[in-house]
Amino acid sequence: MRSLILLVSLAICSASTNKRNIVTIQSSFDDLYTNPGSCLGYPNVLEDYRDAMYNFTIETYKQVAPKGTYQFVMSPLSMWMTLAAMAEGADRYTQNYLFELLHIPRNQCLRHKYYHLAASRFSLTADAAVISKRALVIDEGVIPNPVWHNYVTKHHLLDVLTAPLKHNPGASASTIRQVVSAEFPRLDLRGNSVLIDTMDYNGLWNTAFADAVVKRAPFYSIEGKHIGTVDLMTVKRYGKIGYVPSIQAKILELPIGVNKQYSMIIALVVGQTDLRPVIQAMKSTILSNVLASLRETKVPINIAVPQFTINSELDAKTILQDLGITSLWTEPEATRYISSPPALPSSYVQRATLTLNKHGVHPPPITELRSFGPPTAPEDLFFSEFIADRPFMFGLFDTETHTCLISTMYTQPTYPN
Ligand SMILES: *[C@@H]1O[C@H](CO)[C@@H](O)[C@H](O)[C@H]1NC(C)=O
Repeated sequence: MRSLILLVSLAICSASTNKRNIVTIQSSFDDLYTNPGSCLGYPNVLEDYRDAMYNFTIETYKQVAPKGTYQFVMSPLSMWMTLAAMAEGADRYTQNYLFELLHIPRNQCLRHKYYHLAASRFSLTADAAVISKRALVIDEGVIPNPVWHNYVTKHHLLDVLTAPLKHNPGASASTIRQVVSAEFPRLDLRGNSVLIDTMDYNGLWNTAFADAVVKRAPFYSIEGKHIGTVDLMTVKRYGKIGYVPSIQAKILELPIGVNKQYSMIIALVVGQTDLRPVIQAMKSTILSNVLASLRETKVPINIAVPQFTINSELDAKTILQDLGITSLWTEPEATRYISSPPALPSSYVQRATLTLNKHGVHPPPITELRSFGPPTAPEDLFFSEFIADRPFMFGLFDTETHTCLISTMYTQPTYPN
């Protein structure tokens, strides 16, 4: 019976019924959670946090891009937080690997600051919805270590839910798919738990695209071959634009929301270059270079961007295995401080969905009323248009930390030939 399958927050579970279990887990676990005392007087960690996030964003981007058609959307932030939660309860060996991959410092006060920055990036307002859900779904009868559970809940890193994974894998799988609105064809439930995370973006541009003009237009491959058509939305406005030679890409920033609390940064590959080696050679410094390249334009930019929804379901476990994270999935020892018996996750999947449409907070500017001559300098000409009718990479950045919440790439036209 479907109704028997409940994903119940373990907050409801009474910890007192399992005191004996907990005591044994806790004794070997204490050193991680000794009270750090006052964290006042610790330095501002924003720059280090940003470096950590840039590194993780590019590391994962490089893993995900070549796995399919180079068209995908993923959330490095959501994955980072999920893994940080697992790292907090992992054995020393696995924890070292995870902290290294995530660039999380050992010092507890610094870690708290990172977690606070990470968890405060989301938004659920009428103009910008950026929502991530992260959960460890454990089998019925698996008891989470309450110290770890409290810690990851307090820092908003991860929820813990239960489902009868072993007793009723079919129904559990369909409940999980329903809860996260995903297919996840290869959901492996043979372990004591699975990790799931989701990210949904739906926002209003600060300046809307022109209402009347969304038209079917050709879309090209990097080599310039006509491969299909897209619904191009257009607007003419002043903005920030740049060029980054190492990836031969023109960069455009499009602010989102009433207070411009987010930006979409789009990198349009204008060179006829093979993307594969370019992506493979990317260093995390590329993100600072991209942001540093942006300048206010002297002339209004003719902007055209396809309208689309992009949805990806990633096998995060495989991506992480390729990045050297293996013990988490294979060694019960690695997760024995997370639960009893050890959580030993058999799957980790992420779904991310992003929609770009023409709607915005403010109407498009009436540029016709301004008088300006045609651009004259070749540079002005180059920066006077941004027509995304060929593959582009883009990311959702938040204005406070300038880190990337969602990283994506668009290569496949909505209506292929
Ligand atoms: C991430 O950091 C590690 C260690 O500092 C470094 O070896 C690696 O090249 C960095 N990755 C990227 C994509 O910059």
